[in-house]
Amino acid sequence: MTTKIALITGAAIGIGRATAFKFADNHYHVVVTDILSSEGEAVAETIRQRGGSADYYDLDVANTANVDDVCDRLDHQFGSLSAVINNAGIAHKQPLQTLSDEQWDLTMDIDLKGMMRVTRAANKLLERDGNGAVVCLSSIAGANVGWAEHIPYSAAKGGVTGLVKALAIELADKNIRVNGIAPGLIRTAQSLNTEHSVGPEGLEAMIPGVPLGRIGSPEDIANVIAFLASGDAAYMTGQILTVDGGLTVSL
Ligand SMILES: NC(=O)c1ccc[n+]([C@@H]2O[C@H](COP(=O)([O-])OP(=O)(O)OC[C@H]3O[C@@H](n4cnc5c(N)ncnc54)[C@H](O)[C@@H]3O)[C@@H](O)[C@H]2O)c1
Repeated sequence: MTTKIALITGAAIGIGRATAFKFADNHYHVVVTDILSSEGEAVAETIRQRGGSADYYDLDVANTANVDDVCDRLDHQFGSLSAVINNAGIAHKQPLQTLSDEQWDLTMDIDLKGMMRVTRAANKLLERDGNGAVVCLSSIAGANVGWAEHIPYSAAKGGVTGLVKALAIELADKNIRVNGIAPGLIRTAQSLNTEHSVGPEGLEAMIPGVPLGRIGSPEDIANVIAFLASGDAAYMTGQILTVDGGLTVSL
C-alpha cells in the first residue's frame, strides 16, 4: 500500500529517474518532476505499468511561481509529503575568462537557489508528514574538490553543503531531516556530455583513479538517496555523504 509521497526534481533522466524508480520500488507514490515533459511522463508511466504509483508535473526549479503552484497542487492532492529530493542541476563548462554574469546567475539559480525554492514551498507539506526528509544533490566538485572551468557549478555545489546544514537546523523542530549527497563520477547525460563535462572517453580514462574500479551508476546514488530519506537514517541530519567509489579519499 502506498502511504508515503516523494517529490523528485529533475527526475526525467539520469540520477533523478533512477531515484524515481527506487522510491516506487520502496512503495512511495512518486511525484516525478522536470522540464523534460515527455521523458518525465514516460518515467511516471513506467512506474504505473510496473504496478507502482506516480504522477508527472512540469516543474522548473528556476521558476518560483511554477514551484509554488506545483506544491499548492500537491497540498490539495495529498496534504503532505514524506520526501523532497532536490536533484535537478546543470553543469556548464564556463572558463573564468569568458564567464558572463548571466551564465553565473543561471547555474546558481538552478543548482543552488532552485533547491531553496523547492524546499521553501514544500516545507509545510513535509512538516505535516511528521517525519519529512529532504535530500539535496551536491557534488564532489564543490563539496570535496574544485572543477576547473566549472566555477559556478563548483560554487553552487559547495553552496548546497551550507544550504543543507542551515536547513537541517532550522527545520529540525518540525522533525524534517535535511541531508545531502556528493556524487563522484556517475554515468549520466551530464557526465557523458563532451562539450560541458568529461564525455564517454574521459570517463573511461578516469576509471584507474577510482579505487572501486568503475564509474558509478545512477542507481548507486539513488540507493543512498533512498537510505537518507528512510527511517534507517532517522538520527542523521545536516550531513553530506560522499558517494564516489573512493575517488576523493585516494587523492
Ligand atoms: N553525473 C554525475 O557525475 C554527477 C556528479 C555529481 C553531482 N551530480 C548531480 O546530480 C544531479 C543529477 O545529475 P545527473 O547526472 O542525473 O544529470 P542529468 O543531466 O542526467 O539530469 C539532470 C536533470 O535535471 C533536469 N533539469 C535541468 N534544469 C532544470 C530545471 N531548471 N528545472 C527542473 N529540472 C531541471 C534535467 O532536465 C534533467 O532531467 C545534478 O544535481 C548533478 O549536478 C551528478
